[in-house]
Amino acid sequence: MAANYLSLTLDLPEASAELAQAVLHEAGALGLEVRDSSGASMPGVRGPTAGEAIVVAWFDRRETADSAAAEVAEQFPEARAALEAVPAKDWSEEWKALIRSVEVGRLWVGPPWEAAKAPAGKVRVVIEPKMAFGTGDHPTTSLCLAAVDEALSARPGASVLDVGTGTGVLAIAARKLGASRVVGVDNDEMSVTLAIENAAANQTEGVELSGLPVEKVSGAFDLVLANILANTLVALARPIAARVAGRLVLSGVLVGQRAEVEAAYVAEGLTPAGHRVQGEWVRLDFERK
Ligand SMILES: C[S@@+](CC[C@H](N)C(=O)[O-])C[C@H]1O[C@@H](n2cnc3c(N)ncnc32)[C@H](O)[C@@H]1O
Repeated sequence: MAANYLSLTLDLPEASAELAQAVLHEAGALGLEVRDSSGASMPGVRGPTAGEAIVVAWFDRRETADSAAAEVAEQFPEARAALEAVPAKDWSEEWKALIRSVEVGRLWVGPPWEAAKAPAGKVRVVIEPKMAFGTGDHPTTSLCLAAVDEALSARPGASVLDVGTGTGVLAIAARKLGASRVVGVDNDEMSVTLAIENAAANQTEGVELSGLPVEKVSGAFDLVLANILANTLVALARPIAARVAGRLVLSGVLVGQRAEVEAAYVAEGLTPAGHRVQGEWVRLDFERK
């Protein structure tokens, strides 16, 4: 279906581009494009100046685009921003080309139109890419998928809490790999709705998906996952740490933010248990001893 969209184009230092993408996603961007030094720009498309990147975010509502522009102006005062209406185009088809399936450990995660190509023997998690984060192919998600696979190999039947579940991808993967109680929460209503749809489409019964704040989730879990931005992880350190009976896996953290996030969870009584880097992102593991 063709529709009218708005684009918010940011020219900013390349080092800020990853965080800007995450902020724009949280602010409700429907899709993102990045032009940086790692790839040649398409002919006819403006490229970044040296040391900078261009991040383009698309929105379908003027209010969301305006509030995202205000958010980036505050967080990235050095960025040059331009908000424009873009001509009608069938974006749902355009985006299909950008979503890639991933294989992580025993898991295959991808969109419905790729599912037939999933290798036999893989545990298949099919995620419809709509307006929630978590199609599997972002480094922060695949780092968590690896943790889910490892934890449930070591301890089949573990209980799992996924804080900031987005599409539900991690919760659904955990259930498919044999987790017992699985709870996924998100403070974004749209994400909860989509996570419930995805859980049903994957025939994962009994996954508890809701908008419950993490403080209100009952019990403690063998594995707690939280792929959220670093500032939120720090703010939620106390209630997240309180839900950890065994292992905690934090993602959504840029390499340079590691020490601050680690300190916040050590202060809550957890012991660091290793980390894994993918690109500019780091996953931090902790244990309750
Ligand atoms: C980066 S996405 C992760 C989605 C999915 N778990 C994954 O790994 O791909 C972060 C999610 O956290 C949610 N979120 C942000 N702040 C939150 C909070 N304070 N409590 C619960 N969820 C939150 C966002 O709505 C978003 O869906």
